[in-house]
Amino acid sequence: MSLMRKALLWASTNAWMRERATKTAFVRRSVVKFMPGERVEDAIEAAKALKPQGINTILTRLGENIANIGEAKEVFDHYMRVIDLVHAAGLDAQISIKPTQLGYDQNPDICYDYCIKLLERCEATGNFFWLDMESSPYVDGTIALFKRLRAKSAKVGIAIQAYLFRTEKDIEELVALGSAVRLVKGAYLEPASVAYPKKSDVDASYLKLAKRLLQDDNRRPGALLHIATHDLGIQAELQKVIQERRVPADRYEFAMLFGIQTGRQQELGRQGVKVRCLISYGEYWFPWYMRRLGERPANVWFVVKNMFR
Ligand code: FDA
Repeated sequence: MSLMRKALLWASTNAWMRERATKTAFVRRSVVKFMPGERVEDAIEAAKALKPQGINTILTRLGENIANIGEAKEVFDHYMRVIDLVHAAGLDAQISIKPTQLGYDQNPDICYDYCIKLLERCEATGNFFWLDMESSPYVDGTIALFKRLRAKSAKVGIAIQAYLFRTEKDIEELVALGSAVRLVKGAYLEPASVAYPKKSDVDASYLKLAKRLLQDDNRRPGALLHIATHDLGIQAELQKVIQERRVPADRYEFAMLFGIQTGRQQELGRQGVKVRCLISYGEYWFPWYMRRLGERPANVWFVVKNMFR
């Protein structure tokens, strides 16, 4: 992992930097590249604009590790409203949450109660509920939460990170259940004891795991793969595998982030390949934005240029 990436991932967890950066105009100007706005209405408008291009969406409100359980209720109410707004707008826009937004740190049972209610509302309105994956101490808990939810409904999915050594084993358990899996490379600063430090190893792991998830035996009801990467080489390789193995079109989708590889998202939409764009919004964008900067050094130069605008 490069020094710059390490520094940005370290900054993502630093409260002092968050406090200052979010008030700084040039940083705020730079964030709009990855986020249509801070309000859910901004995200819904962006989703409406993507729909005619054949691009469906996933909506997520930024925020993680709330400080007290009382805050979870506001987040829960917010997502209930989002599910209704999506329904009213006739959008195919899924919902994605982080467990620590809904009180996982304070009380996993309360977090589950909020999640199951959101999942039920998703089911009732034809929507779909995703669990994001946070840093490695949360993986066991998030998988356990997923399994409890999955026992009640197939309209729930989980993000799984290819950079973790443990993921190969986790995937086998998820395949046995019939699971919707969003395969990502992984966005957090992790120690070499749990995750591949070298990018080439992470890429190789991603390909291997995605190929595993595209195998014939991953066909239990509920099985779905979100190929959640902007890595065009990996996408092309997996498209070949999909063709060769004749993987049915309802078994996979491509998923990318708002503002990244936009041309590619449009191309997939034009080709009629299922593609989703994850749109983030909200005021608590600093840690998430640092992770996006860390993924591509060129993004840092974009921020620097904005300093002089
Ligand atoms: P990689 O980093 O190798 O990038 C490939 C190419 O894509 C780059 O060369 C560049 O061209 C472009 N690119 C990638 N990131 C960019 C950026 N920030 N700015 C500009 N260009 C960029 N992580 C996690 O830990 N938990 C989660 O729940 C999720 N959820 C999630 C959902 C979806 C839909 C996506 C697409 C990603 C996530 N992630 C995530 C983030 C993920 O772990 C990873 O950090 C990023 O997707 C970047 O990795 P890539 O696979 O895109 O490859």
